[in-house]
Amino acid sequence: MSITLTTAESGQNLIIDSVDVALQGKIRVPGDKSISHRALILGAIASGETTIEGLLLGEDPRSTASCFASMGVEISQLSTEQVIINGLGLANLSEPSDLLNAGNSGTTMRLMLGILAGQAGKFFTVTGDSSLRSRPMSRVVKPLQQMGAQIWGRKDNSLAPLAVSGQSLRPIEYHSPIASAQVKSCLLLAGLGIEGRTTVIEPRLSRDHSERMLQAFGANIERDFLANRVTIIGPTSLTGQKVIVPGDISSAAFWLVAAAIVEGSELVIENVGINPTRTGILEVLQEMGANIRLENQRIVTGEPVGDIRIKSSPLRGCEISGAIIPRLIDEIPILAVAATFAQGTTIIRDAQELRVKESDRLAVMAKELTKMGAQVLELPDGLEITGPTHLVGTDVESYGDHRITMSLAIAALAAQKTTTIRGAEAATISYPNFVTTLQKVCGIIL
Ligand code: S3P
Repeated sequence: MSITLTTAESGQNLIIDSVDVALQGKIRVPGDKSISHRALILGAIASGETTIEGLLLGEDPRSTASCFASMGVEISQLSTEQVIINGLGLANLSEPSDLLNAGNSGTTMRLMLGILAGQAGKFFTVTGDSSLRSRPMSRVVKPLQQMGAQIWGRKDNSLAPLAVSGQSLRPIEYHSPIASAQVKSCLLLAGLGIEGRTTVIEPRLSRDHSERMLQAFGANIERDFLANRVTIIGPTSLTGQKVIVPGDISSAAFWLVAAAIVEGSELVIENVGINPTRTGILEVLQEMGANIRLENQRIVTGEPVGDIRIKSSPLRGCEISGAIIPRLIDEIPILAVAATFAQGTTIIRDAQELRVKESDRLAVMAKELTKMGAQVLELPDGLEITGPTHLVGTDVESYGDHRITMSLAIAALAAQKTTTIRGAEAATISYPNFVTTLQKVCGIIL
């Protein structure tokens, strides 16, 4: 078997021969992407020093760091060991003289808009790559406008580039039509500097890293867990903290599925964030018959962390819908891969949000897995996958989407023959050393 990365005209090709060994070992995954963004952002707008250990060095957090550096925040060189931020305080960000570029990162753009909207008297223009410039920003622009924000952009102010004229905002109570941590976090950040109560109510609970970290930095937050309701009582000023970022369960998900589907495998993934708003993947894999054990559970800077042990086992299809969807939203592409190896039908519903991620993940997974021989039906809000199928390697596309690249790489491991994934450089958005870890768990490198 072999796993090689080659340079092609339009990026990189990842070429994978089917695996003929069981996956073994103890591994670690890079820092959690959501927590990395929030640590950089809160560190930038807090007063005093914030130190971050375990920061994800992917392209997305780099975009966040460079945007805040353009607004005058001193951030040391990014490293996993330690990043030091000299926070300016919310009111002291400077007006950048050029565009703020969020790259491929929806989290950077949406959370940052919550901060920029309230920077009275300052003017900003935010943009991103071609994927981000086609993703809906109205979900944050509209509630921010209700708070008094002035934001302009294409398609009725919904598409970046967006121009923001900072204003004095007023608090609102917002019933979000979607369960989105990006929307919730944007509005909480907008509420931070203003007098009164800014409340967000979600239809289902989305990841709550912002709530936890804002509290740790000294914000006054009230939560009603039964009503999925969170309030920030402003104005509060934040104080710099030490943040230790756990491994990203969304990155661990690729190894969980790989170990489950490649016979004889056993992996331990150490130091993974297991915040209950993110662990839907563990519950679904267990329901599918996966052999998973959580070990060494602990709390690290306000977030639950543990080691995950997984052994291969036969999988069966299941239904994935309703309240669990926001708790595994980024893992649906890799769960689709697991479903192709599972006995019976897996139905994924209520996942229409996947159509507005870095790519239309429903359409792309249906198309690319079908090329490999899977039986996949695309639904308006999900996928229906019947297994088990013997996938056969072929040429597939990443669509510039990191999670598609890595999901297809795991499918390729367990497929017959050779798979070539085009545009594989996309993995560096959230997992810079993905290919090296892939080679390691397959025993190709030590
Ligand atoms: C994120 C929230 C989710 C997720 C994204 C990261 C965050 O998006 O898909 O990868 O860090 O807040 P939505 O909030 O839009 O669902």
